[in-house]
Amino acid sequence: MSEPGGQLMTLGRTDIRVSRLGIGAMVWGDMAAAPRWNPARNVYGPTSSLEEQRAALEVSLAAGVNFIDTAAMYGKGASERRVGELTEGIDVVVATKFPFGFFSRASSLPTTLEGSLARLRRTSIDLYQVHFPSRWMSIPTLMNLMADAVDTGKVRAVGVSNYTADQMRTAHTELARRGLALTSNQVQYSLLHRDPETDGVLDTCRKLGVTLIAYMPLASGALTGKYSAATRPAGWRRYNRSFRGRNLVDLARVVGLLNEIGSRHDRSPSQVALRWLIQQNDVLPIPGAKNARQAAQNAAALTFTLDDEEVQALSDATNPATP
Ligand SMILES: NC(=O)c1ccc[n+]([C@@H]2O[C@H](COP(=O)([O-])OP(=O)(O)OC[C@H]3O[C@@H](n4cnc5c(N)ncnc54)[C@H](OP(=O)(O)O)[C@@H]3O)[C@@H](O)[C@H]2O)c1
Repeated sequence: MSEPGGQLMTLGRTDIRVSRLGIGAMVWGDMAAAPRWNPARNVYGPTSSLEEQRAALEVSLAAGVNFIDTAAMYGKGASERRVGELTEGIDVVVATKFPFGFFSRASSLPTTLEGSLARLRRTSIDLYQVHFPSRWMSIPTLMNLMADAVDTGKVRAVGVSNYTADQMRTAHTELARRGLALTSNQVQYSLLHRDPETDGVLDTCRKLGVTLIAYMPLASGALTGKYSAATRPAGWRRYNRSFRGRNLVDLARVVGLLNEIGSRHDRSPSQVALRWLIQQNDVLPIPGAKNARQAAQNAAALTFTLDDEEVQALSDATNPATP
């Protein structure tokens, strides 16, 4: 599916061509209007300004990034609304996610989809993903509602997020009954979070022709090298695995290696960390960017290549099985 070393890849088995790196818009939007509990307020802190969000998208597009990820839940629609304002009339692949709330039922999918379409100012969503598995939402019911949405032209491709390998197979089988394929599974994947390699998700993606969309590819900023035991981030993010106890010591070692490899290419630690993901076929990292500077830096991960030894050194240095 991917072109090794190339700048575009095909999303799942669709005809949708996307850049090898996207952009995550989780903390975008006018947070003054968003509820108190949301990632922009409590976990990461907001972007510098609405104009910085515009600039971040502009530099991303200019660098060839054509995939943007949001969700109905982010800021209770605030992120989608901003993505809609910024992408109106622009040729960009937009991915969003159902549902709107943690305890939503599968049956709310058609109405939630209408809300997302309105906020995104679109008649069709390129990639519509189920945000997480939930006991309130049966996978067969969800996939049939997704297939209905594809039939009506409101959705181009169907994805899931945070699904296990088994859940992916169930979704894939249900969609196949309707003549469709599962396009993507969006899961946490980075040098500091290698679970998809061992829990069967990456293998299953490859077997089924599903793109693995890697969220938190910078481990919430840990892989940028700007955080340490002395400078932990503010907000709930500081309680993430990467920013706690012994992991901060390991982080210093990993950032050291990212710096060393980066210096050979004149690149930053975050660019090397993103490049490690890009060079795994069929993996699409979607780093979050709070401003144009971060977006430009992240997009520049598209413009250099790690050699095989460097990829291996990074894999070995962050392999959880290695003591
Ligand atoms: N499906 C899901 O359940 C799920 C869950 C989480 C995220 N996501 C998606 O994945 C996207 C990315 O994940 P994420 O934002 O949680 O984690 P991330 O991409 O690993 O980290 C993003 C954060 O790192 C910092 N950063 C980014 N680029 C930087 C750069 N070049 N230099 C310095 N700092 C930089 C910024 O925060 P600071 O400047 O404050 O450090 C930014 O908010 C989200 O936007 C969302 O679309 C999906």
